[in-house]
Amino acid sequence: MRRRRSDEAARRSGNGGGEGPSAPLPDPKEDEVVGGRWRVGRKLGAGSFGAVVEVVDLDDAQNEEPEVRAMKMEARTRRSQLKYETRCYEQLKSVRGLPRVFDAGQTRDFSYLVMQHVGEPLDAMQERMGGKIPEKAAYVVGCQAIQRLKDVHAKGLVHRDVKPQNFCVLDGTVYLCDFGLAKSYVDGGAHVPHRDGKKLTGTPRFASLHTHAGVEQSRRDDLQSLVYMLVYLIRGALPWQGLGKGKKKEQSGGDRRSDKSERIAKAKAEAAATLCDGMPALQTMFESVRRLEFEQVPPYQLYCACLRAGIKRLER
Ligand SMILES: Nc1ncnc2c1ncn2[C@@H]1O[C@H](COP(=O)(O)OP(=O)(O)OP(=O)(O)O)[C@@H](O)[C@H]1O
Ligand SMILES: [Mg+2]
Repeated sequence: MRRRRSDEAARRSGNGGGEGPSAPLPDPKEDEVVGGRWRVGRKLGAGSFGAVVEVVDLDDAQNEEPEVRAMKMEARTRRSQLKYETRCYEQLKSVRGLPRVFDAGQTRDFSYLVMQHVGEPLDAMQERMGGKIPEKAAYVVGCQAIQRLKDVHAKGLVHRDVKPQNFCVLDGTVYLCDFGLAKSYVDGGAHVPHRDGKKLTGTPRFASLHTHAGVEQSRRDDLQSLVYMLVYLIRGALPWQGLGKGKKKEQSGGDRRSDKSERIAKAKAEAAATLCDGMPALQTMFESVRRLEFEQVPPYQLYCACLRAGIKRLER
């Protein structure tokens, strides 16, 4: 499966990361054995910090149909993002629709996390379907994605990188993965305070307007990103795509990254009124999502009901 990196790739900052990709990236070869137990198969993805490969348990390898797992690997750095992600999965282990974790460890050069293989990522599915996912199918995915976010939020975490690459589909179930940027929004039983001046964490293409504006992310931002993701799946593109490229800031010393974020944010704000044209179910959800307050519990069930009504309308 080809892994498509978006032109507006995830910016890894915040929690466990911090070391940047300067350490050599793990590049496992097929048939290599990791941790004395896992035999490496084909590559599933390569991110800014490592790789995800298929593996089978050596104990299971003799069986006719060995269970294929997914192993995420990351260079060993002082503050491993993967260790942080492993802790998130531990915190979320009772949540349905997240990959189960089988093993985690370290070799001399890298850290690894072995998870349930949760099927095909949405970006690959979209590509396989010719670049667009039918509206009805996207709403079915959307309903399950809302449920995943609701359950993750109920455990005190926001995901902060909602995008097609981070949802996979297996046997009709939508799974949410990649908790490398997840963050607790609860502190000592209370919601974390509203803060601004934050650097953009996540993926600019799908980031909420509050995130562009530097506001601490909360539950509302995962839902705003989800609307952008659904529009992207249905239409095959978002109006602000490509704005990350080109045009350097004119004055010297300009911060090109924030310049890019500003351009995307401006286009997002301008596109808001027409973004969901012709898709009333998504339009209703988007209007509500945009009005959510920082600490507000999103009305998840209402959003699911909107999408279900959209499905019904399309079936008529
Ligand atoms: N458990 C899994 N089952 C199947 N595929 C997976 C699994 N985990 C990850 N993948 C695939 O590997 C890709 C990269 O994984 P992940 O998003 O966790 O890595 P990442 O380095 O954080 O990526 P990025 O920086 O692009 O967000 C995913 O987009 C997905 O295609
Ligand atoms: Mg990812």
